[in-house]
Amino acid sequence: MSDKNLIDLEVLSTEQINKIIKKAKKIMQSPADYRHACDGKILATLFYEPSTRTQMSFQTAMLKLGGRTIGFDNPMNSSVSKGENLKDTITIIGGYADIIAIRHPIEGTAMASAQYAGVPVINCGDGGHLHPTQTLTDIVTLSCEKGRLDNLKIGVCGDLLNGRTVHSLIKTLAKYPNNRFVLISTKELSVPLYIIDILKKNGCQFELSNNLADSIGDLDILYMTRIQRERFASTEEYEAQKNVFVLDKEKLDKAREDMIILHPLPRVNEITVDIDDDPRALYFKQAQYGMYGRMALILLLLQDDEFVIDNKESQVFDHKCNNPKCITQTEEYLPRLGYEKLGMKMCSYCDKRID
Ligand code: CP
Repeated sequence: MSDKNLIDLEVLSTEQINKIIKKAKKIMQSPADYRHACDGKILATLFYEPSTRTQMSFQTAMLKLGGRTIGFDNPMNSSVSKGENLKDTITIIGGYADIIAIRHPIEGTAMASAQYAGVPVINCGDGGHLHPTQTLTDIVTLSCEKGRLDNLKIGVCGDLLNGRTVHSLIKTLAKYPNNRFVLISTKELSVPLYIIDILKKNGCQFELSNNLADSIGDLDILYMTRIQRERFASTEEYEAQKNVFVLDKEKLDKAREDMIILHPLPRVNEITVDIDDDPRALYFKQAQYGMYGRMALILLLLQDDEFVIDNKESQVFDHKCNNPKCITQTEEYLPRLGYEKLGMKMCSYCDKRID
């Protein structure tokens, strides 16, 4: 397995994260210097789920670096539609491309792909699990717009259960000193317990809220997310949740003038359109920062021998993950990999407890 797979931003040291941010800023300042940095290199974008920003910003990033791209955005137009398994698809594409960016609806697919690719694999979202390059986007934005990644009070609002961007963001910002979190959601869509465990382990202050208007007043950042319709078992359950939290002008009037509003996008209706022109609304600019973050990541993974990522795949446990959404349920040939954390055994693919 390559030692250059970006599966989960949490395994990066703060030095490595700072290195990506610094590189992204250098590219922003003088993009022409990087026009041929990846001449001759090929990025494969394998999107088993829809995407606008992640897929196209990765493609644009590689093109701006002088490289080229291959891939699919609908697996039904590939041999996946004939029943080809993940292992075979990834093994083949690893022989064509220098680096792979993959999005998939099943948790743990990026880690599974990394077992067979032989080239760096970047997780572009695996089910409701993680979305590390969105977090990269978010922290490049915070560094450029707030000038720091610590001492922040961060309100995270919406679908905190299924929102993979939220899980990656909290796990990463929890590593920086004195960050505090306000987790604003309904009871049904509150953050998974393993995220709470991580907050506790890192000694982070956090509070739970079910009222955006009451919680907005002393935030540095409001991170809005959509309700993830595609992850609900029924339309009725989605309908019950979909309009509970909407940021409108009335609520924004209660926020500080220096608070910034972020959103991974796509927006459905959780931020009213009349807020887009407010100087605090940075979600479109955030998507631009993401492209530079991804350019920096591609460069470091392809060209910096010292930029090694120590993923948590080292131990083999002789039992099956019982998370029904884990890739090990559908790709049964996968080795049963696990790791230990806080005295518990966890699945290396989906991070759920397996004992
Ligand atoms: N933020 C994000 O992942 O957007 P896309 O689904 O459009 O890639």
